[in-house]
Amino acid sequence: MTATASLLDQSLNPAATQLIDKIRNRTAVIGVIGLGYVGLPLLIEFHKAGFPVIGLDIDTSKIESLRAGKSYILHIPGENVAAMAASEKFSASSDMADANKCDALLLCVPTPLTHHREPDITYVTCTCESIAPAMRAGQIVILESTTYPGTTDEVMVPILEKGSGLKAGRDFFVAYSPEREDPSNKSFSTATIPKVVGAMTPQGLEAAKSLYDAVVVKTIPVSSTRVAEATKLMENIFRCVNIAMVNELKVVFQRMDIDIWEVIEAAKTKPFGFMPFYPGPGLGGHCIPIDPFYLTWKAREYETPTRFIELAGEINTEMPKYVVSQTMEALNEQGKALKGSRILLIGLAYKADVDDLRESPTFKLIELFEKRGAEVLFHDPHIPEIMMTREHAALAGRKSVPLDEAAKCDATVISTAHAAVDYAKLGKIAKVIVDTRNAMVGVTDATAAIHKA
Ligand SMILES: NC(=O)c1ccc[n+]([C@@H]2O[C@H](COP(=O)([O-])OP(=O)(O)OC[C@H]3O[C@@H](n4cnc5c(N)ncnc54)[C@H](O)[C@@H]3O)[C@@H](O)[C@H]2O)c1
Repeated sequence: MTATASLLDQSLNPAATQLIDKIRNRTAVIGVIGLGYVGLPLLIEFHKAGFPVIGLDIDTSKIESLRAGKSYILHIPGENVAAMAASEKFSASSDMADANKCDALLLCVPTPLTHHREPDITYVTCTCESIAPAMRAGQIVILESTTYPGTTDEVMVPILEKGSGLKAGRDFFVAYSPEREDPSNKSFSTATIPKVVGAMTPQGLEAAKSLYDAVVVKTIPVSSTRVAEATKLMENIFRCVNIAMVNELKVVFQRMDIDIWEVIEAAKTKPFGFMPFYPGPGLGGHCIPIDPFYLTWKAREYETPTRFIELAGEINTEMPKYVVSQTMEALNEQGKALKGSRILLIGLAYKADVDDLRESPTFKLIELFEKRGAEVLFHDPHIPEIMMTREHAALAGRKSVPLDEAAKCDATVISTAHAAVDYAKLGKIAKVIVDTRNAMVGVTDATAAIHKA
């Protein structure tokens, strides 16, 4: 028995006692399940750290791209994927039976909301059901998807135990470690973002911590999976509530003829007790508009209201309507009505410099403008065509138009400020610009009328 194993509970399955040594000498096979915005960078990081890796996803097109050494995510460089694909320590599969070959299984599958805005954890449950029959003693399963406190212990563990016939904590380890990936962030990436981890048992925590210590700058152990799950929700609720506050202040200050962007720049010079948040046309992305409602839903079980979260949701949801009303005012000043006007929307992605359009408020803007009789075009250098989505099926197939179309439109609305857009040119060719992101701030020679909204 190794020194590490001797520290572990003697009742552990002998295979489980070997896991930490395998992690420490980097022979543990790491399986990442769900190779999207979170899973793919994580897989690359474990590979870079010297571990054998297996990428698992039910989307066969992603598996084929990876095998061909190609990236399918804008901000993940193709050369990083190509380097991994060329290595003997890499394989990719859509057969969940390959979970058997892995010592660590990291689940990075989606956790959206249902149509009734309740947690949809079917991707987590389906993944657990598909890997459980392939599980063997000595593995660790770590959930990384954002979810409500209790998912790991109350939902994931029973499915894994039933499907595998193994016992969590004795035959295999279980942990939860929230993902903090921030796509396109130039200052932080997977390896440089500290990672919180909570596990079902002390041995599981030791194994999970050893695993993440090998790839991230710092691992922060917490006392349970529920604390780790709650930590992630708290981080995103903090953002959601503060964005709502700054959106509310934007509207108030605008009535007072005060520029919120200038106020934020001044306020952030305070070296303590202030952190800048920025207004926008509404919330977007797979996290901030969704995650707070995971807690709201779970809180109902405890008969506890979550008024801050609900209020922030209300304010943020109103923002696209505010942008439409500001556009109407801007057109009005030109003697035009919104009905019958041509509107160009700049930026379909939910945030700058990504190709991710999930929950983008620009979709809401398209629908609101069209409902009021406007003709709507969009320009996004990263999204040539709108793909099929469950929520906006009617918009699928629409194509991005060239920026030059701004000259033929009555108003241009900047909803996402991609760096790849030529704002100086836009300032010269557009008639009216409604700027929700302060993107025109550096453009001094614009001939277009600029309205901040
Ligand atoms: N995108 C972000 O910036 C971000 C940041 C932090 C946390 N998260 C959280 O991480 C999780 C994953 O988000 P994402 O943005 O990477 O999602 P994504 O949609 O980009 O990727 C999810 C992947 O899971 C795959 N998948 C779905 N069901 C599967 C199954 N049963 N078996 C195997 N693969 C399956 C999909 O094909 C897809 O490739 C979510 O819970 C999200 O809230 C995302």
